[in-house]
Amino acid sequence: MVNVIGLGYIGLPTALMMASHGIEVVGTDHSRGKVEMLKSGRTSFKEKGLDELFRTARAGGIRFTTEYQAADVYIVSVQTPYDAFTRKVDMSYVNIAVGEVLTVAPKGAIVVVESTVSPGSIDRYVRPYVEARGFMTGEDIHLVHAPERIIQGNMICELLHNDRTIGADDLAIGEKIKELYASFCAGRIVVTDIKTAEMTKVIENAFRCVNIAFANELAKLCRHDGMDVYEIIRICNMHPRVNILNPGPGVGGHCIPVDPWFLVGDYPSLTKVIEASLKVNASMPVYVLGRITEIMEERGIEDVSRVGLYGLTFKENVDDYRDSPTLQLLEAQRRHLGQALKVYDPWIEKDLVKNQYHDLDEFLGDVDLVVIMVKHDEIRENMDKLGDKVVLDCHNICSLPGAYHI
Ligand SMILES: NC(=O)c1ccc[n+]([C@@H]2O[C@H](COP(=O)([O-])OP(=O)(O)OC[C@H]3O[C@@H](n4cnc5c(N)ncnc54)[C@H](O)[C@@H]3O)[C@@H](O)[C@H]2O)c1
Repeated sequence: MVNVIGLGYIGLPTALMMASHGIEVVGTDHSRGKVEMLKSGRTSFKEKGLDELFRTARAGGIRFTTEYQAADVYIVSVQTPYDAFTRKVDMSYVNIAVGEVLTVAPKGAIVVVESTVSPGSIDRYVRPYVEARGFMTGEDIHLVHAPERIIQGNMICELLHNDRTIGADDLAIGEKIKELYASFCAGRIVVTDIKTAEMTKVIENAFRCVNIAFANELAKLCRHDGMDVYEIIRICNMHPRVNILNPGPGVGGHCIPVDPWFLVGDYPSLTKVIEASLKVNASMPVYVLGRITEIMEERGIEDVSRVGLYGLTFKENVDDYRDSPTLQLLEAQRRHLGQALKVYDPWIEKDLVKNQYHDLDEFLGDVDLVVIMVKHDEIRENMDKLGDKVVLDCHNICSLPGAYHI
């Protein structure tokens, strides 16, 4: 039996996927509200294909509870934020979960940490924590790290097809966990040691962070000289060994703007490019705010409340708004003016911020300048509704003549 601990964006689809592939699974979360919701047959977030997977997993017998279970394998997928002061990974959620696991785990159980952690964290924090409680790792409890790579918006497909990494002290234990993931994953699964697995995950996100920052820096550079960044990227990418990403209004969510900091926190003198990249990406929402001011001046829009931000989530077609560029931009604006900008996102049902709309037509009726912060399908499909608006398109998706770019 597998007990998945933490039923958030990663734990829930993982638990459902295993239960849909013939594995006995119990999902545990300490949020009573989330567990009640799942028990009542509703998923706790929106994701393409999640509801169908949920139905299959329920038919396969998955159970949800706030209690930890006696199980052969535990999959820990709780949050791993960074400590804003030290910039190091905050392992407290992982250790609290592992501590609870130890109260119920039978001898020889395998604890798989899926949460993203910095290289060496399991040895520095989890192993001593387990051993201080009287358990011998490698005998009473086996530790494994199986970082997750899926992207929100395409999670189900990526769970099924992405290659994976399993890090274990003991090759035989690693192979056993490989078999478990192979029950649903058609991708290649590499078995390695724990620290290598930890390092690969944060390096992957650091790679994305650096490449996004490069595109963002290019956008600023081209804007400074009045050049078209998209045309420049298009031509550069015709080079056989160049593949520049598109710039954007910033980076949000709990991976790319967070995980690279773990490396900077642990290796401050060896991570200059990564640190600079994190800062370039973090500067983008304020840069967009500057573009809004320039465009308002150019187009004679005097009232900031006639400016509307389209999109609140951190990426398109998901409902996760954690640390989104729009929230970062609003925070920066609030410090100067109090929030006057209007905001709309079709994926966010609850009221998150001031001046938030829940209907596209109503939102568009109240603004003159629309800033496309997120490229949800909805705005792509309704581009004609922006015909009489001034548009600042932060993703280069708008075909209307005269649209501004970052
Ligand atoms: N979200 C992503 O796209 C993504 C992608 C790859 C990796 N990751 C990593 O996966 C991990 C989980 O991320 P997430 O986005 O799913 O987080 P999340 O905040 O959505 O979910 C975490 C869940 O764990 C629960 N929880 C916390 N402590 C608990 C405890 N002691 N016992 C039981 N439940 C507990 C919370 O209530 C919450 O439901 C993080 O390390 C993250 O960096 C996330």
